[in-house]
Amino acid sequence: MKILGIETSCDETAAAVVGGENETVECFSNVVSSQIDIHKKFGGVVPEVAAREHVAVVLPVIDEALAQAGVNKRSASKHLDAIAVTIGPGLVTSLKTGIETAKVLSYAWKVPLIGVNHIEGHVYANFIDKTKKGEAVVDKKDNIKFPAIVLTVSGGHTMLILMKGHSSFELLGETRDDAAGEAFDKAAKLMSIGYPGGPAISQRAEKFRVENKDLANDAVKLPRPMIHSDNFDFSFSGLKTAIRYKIEKDSNWKNRINEYCFEFQQAIIDVLIYKTIKAARKFNVETVMMAGGVSANKELRRQLESMVQQELLEVEFSMPDLKYTTDNAAMIASAGYFRLLKKNFTNWRDLKVDCNNEIV
Ligand code: KG4
Ligand code: ZN
Repeated sequence: MKILGIETSCDETAAAVVGGENETVECFSNVVSSQIDIHKKFGGVVPEVAAREHVAVVLPVIDEALAQAGVNKRSASKHLDAIAVTIGPGLVTSLKTGIETAKVLSYAWKVPLIGVNHIEGHVYANFIDKTKKGEAVVDKKDNIKFPAIVLTVSGGHTMLILMKGHSSFELLGETRDDAAGEAFDKAAKLMSIGYPGGPAISQRAEKFRVENKDLANDAVKLPRPMIHSDNFDFSFSGLKTAIRYKIEKDSNWKNRINEYCFEFQQAIIDVLIYKTIKAARKFNVETVMMAGGVSANKELRRQLESMVQQELLEVEFSMPDLKYTTDNAAMIASAGYFRLLKKNFTNWRDLKVDCNNEIV
């Protein structure tokens, strides 16, 4: 089955075509037009600017995705089984562009429409292309078994989710303040090292890791917020405050910026991994999965995988291929495919923006 996915929830305008068969999803095209360069100078996403940019590029992006997948738009109804579009959470004016476009195409082409939760999309990035040897981790058919724990870490969300089956989610815990990606972005802004903060911090942290195997006695130390709390919630805003105080007191901080980045990243990784393993044990899961933009972080990927192997015998580990970690439409089409199997369609008249749409 072929699905066109459309994603415009934040600052990426994306369209993709995927093919679904049984438990696997193959990506035929994945086009992302990023607005990062536009928002960089503001140090964050400006909603009104984002919305205008979505309007300008959404049709060319969809055209490109269809062309790359060999779908002739004049006979799209013959090729496509559904259109999946993000309905929320996200920025209202950004979401609107994708949704209105999807509604028009669904009406014009007579192709069923499926509204997808953005976070669910991130989770379903784990199902894309996993059967292509070399490109991804392993054969997905042997890999994702339920129940699964999903560590969902993005710019807007940090959640531990118990996934009991397709489209069946239970929220175990979430951040009480900043999301993990938001913490990276705010700390990077504080140190003036660029936007988005995740890649900026992780590159510097990696430099420090390679160059300094032995930490100095006066090494920067940051707290691991809520690591031992008896729930699955997180809190990252204190970490941002902690790094700010340290920097204010350290006249040499600019020369130690890589070290600050290393410790900041490790503090986040420690908390995320500790709670994920704890949840996996408590709920006796078959798989640990990771999803969202922060799952692009190489150290988090490496350390979580190794911890699952070490601590949770017989439990499988899955993470999306790097290109499906940050916002894209292939993940939305992938989630759409699994909803299509359950005939979970929405009439084009009823599909609406739902900024607070929840996965559970
Ligand atoms: O999922 P995503 O693309 O958008 C949202 O749904 O929010 O996530 C974007 C977030 C940003 O906060 C960005 O700093 C973070 O993901 N991110 C990273 C890395 N790449 C992107 N965080 C840590 N390390 C990375 N390599
Ligand atoms: Zn996202």
